[in-house]
Amino acid sequence: MVGISSQCFRYLTTTLPPRFPSFQPSRFLTLSTLSSHNLVEFENVEPINNNPTSSKNPISYFPKRGQTLELVCESLAFKGKGLCKVTDTGFVVMCDRALPGERFIGRVTRKKGNYAEVTKVKTLTPPFDLVDAPCEYAPYCGGCKTQNLSYEAQLRAKEEQVRDLVIHVGKFSHQDLELHGIMNPIVPCDIQFHYRNKMEFSFGPSKWVPKELLHEKHDSTENYALGLHAPGFFDKILNVEKCFLQTDPANKVLAAIQNCWRDPQLGLSPYDVHSHLGFLKHLMLRTGRDVTTNHPEVMVNFVTSSYEPKLLSFLVDKVSAFPEVVSVMNNVNTSVGNTSVGEQEYTLYGKSSITETLRGLTFQISANSFFQTNTYQAEVLYKLIEECARIKGDGSEIVLDLFCGTGTIGLTFARSVRHVYGYEVVPQAIADARLNAKINGIQNATFVQGDLNKIDENFGKNFPKPDIVISGFAALSFLIPTYPFIRFISRN
Ligand SMILES: C[S@@+](CC[C@H](N)C(=O)[O-])C[C@H]1O[C@@H](n2cnc3c(N)ncnc32)[C@H](O)[C@@H]1O
Repeated sequence: MVGISSQCFRYLTTTLPPRFPSFQPSRFLTLSTLSSHNLVEFENVEPINNNPTSSKNPISYFPKRGQTLELVCESLAFKGKGLCKVTDTGFVVMCDRALPGERFIGRVTRKKGNYAEVTKVKTLTPPFDLVDAPCEYAPYCGGCKTQNLSYEAQLRAKEEQVRDLVIHVGKFSHQDLELHGIMNPIVPCDIQFHYRNKMEFSFGPSKWVPKELLHEKHDSTENYALGLHAPGFFDKILNVEKCFLQTDPANKVLAAIQNCWRDPQLGLSPYDVHSHLGFLKHLMLRTGRDVTTNHPEVMVNFVTSSYEPKLLSFLVDKVSAFPEVVSVMNNVNTSVGNTSVGEQEYTLYGKSSITETLRGLTFQISANSFFQTNTYQAEVLYKLIEECARIKGDGSEIVLDLFCGTGTIGLTFARSVRHVYGYEVVPQAIADARLNAKINGIQNATFVQGDLNKIDENFGKNFPKPDIVISGFAALSFLIPTYPFIRFISRN
């Protein structure tokens, strides 16, 4: 987590509504701060710059599909891809699982706009800051791509990405950052594993086996998969028995389901994203906390292609035997898309939501509402947001919480401001936000359901002029001219 200092009230965002075409994300993905590395030719590796006339011209240079290049990874780009450059031309090449400092042979797989993607063929020199990844799936799993990079190096990479955004999107200069303390240092999380309160696993008709493990025998009767996607593939599922991201109680539930769901007697079939046949689509596990006992509370959400509760009854009995499981839900999604949000939602056991506390408030979380996924660090983040907001505390101020989800950030301000207005597109999240206000005895918060992509000049007429605006998106390019003196907090 990187702190943007409280003096920094220009806006900064990575995700923008389509109504601001001049600020589309492609403009933000800027690589210009990165230095180029030498790229050395290698035995069977094709010449790097095979068109001498294009030398030093990244626009005219383009490697061929299938071409192999020797590359050095310079840094990590958005989503953890390794960013490499071709010598002389400065042409940008992205590679999954290439880590800073790593020298490797890459094969060009895809050409994309003004860069190409490569897959790693062979590592020549290992990356700096290499560590042993504790999870056995780390080399292949789409869930964690940089587990073998030291946490310190991960933090540096993240900070660099944020700095890049502050400069290129926020329009601050390097000098601003260095001399005026615009950006605070990144705030590490004290826990690096088992911190995620929500994981979503997918069911599939066959286990995806990475090339390296193909020699191992795989019994076809056990070939149904439940796990995480192979990086970049919606239809390849790596079977996962235990995940280092989620909590221990959630891992116990996952193991119990893995132990039985393939039993032919249960008649359960995984959904096939190609044929669109099959029943089980996703398994979502959420962990919260009983606010009185402080014990973990787990929600198990089966996402299925149809509503057939009898088919699920064995699994429901199995998971509800765990004392931590307080809710078993069934989201029924009949569409062919890969989403886990159901058109209908049923409670199969216990309650329909779990609880969690943040900044002394209690929050109810339902299956599909957004809640910060790292509860521990959310506490730290919200404290930082409060500090940045410089609330007067005299109950005079108006807070506008855009993209408010279940209202958690706005509600933590409610005690010390006049009124909080929250805007959010998901109706269930708005319902949760209103309920969250109620269970915390907060009466000065109003939550409105609406699509912020569709707001117009009249938007500001729906609430008093805000003193503080919280937003992770750029709706504010719209509001800033209207309210030039607001304090604007962006979470990006
Ligand atoms: C990353 S979550 C943040 C939620 C909340 N602010 C928090 O920190 O807990 C982003 C939220 O924006 C909402 N959202 C996305 N696009 C939206 C839109 N066009 N209009 C309104 N809300 C939107 C999502 O439903 C989601 O709840």
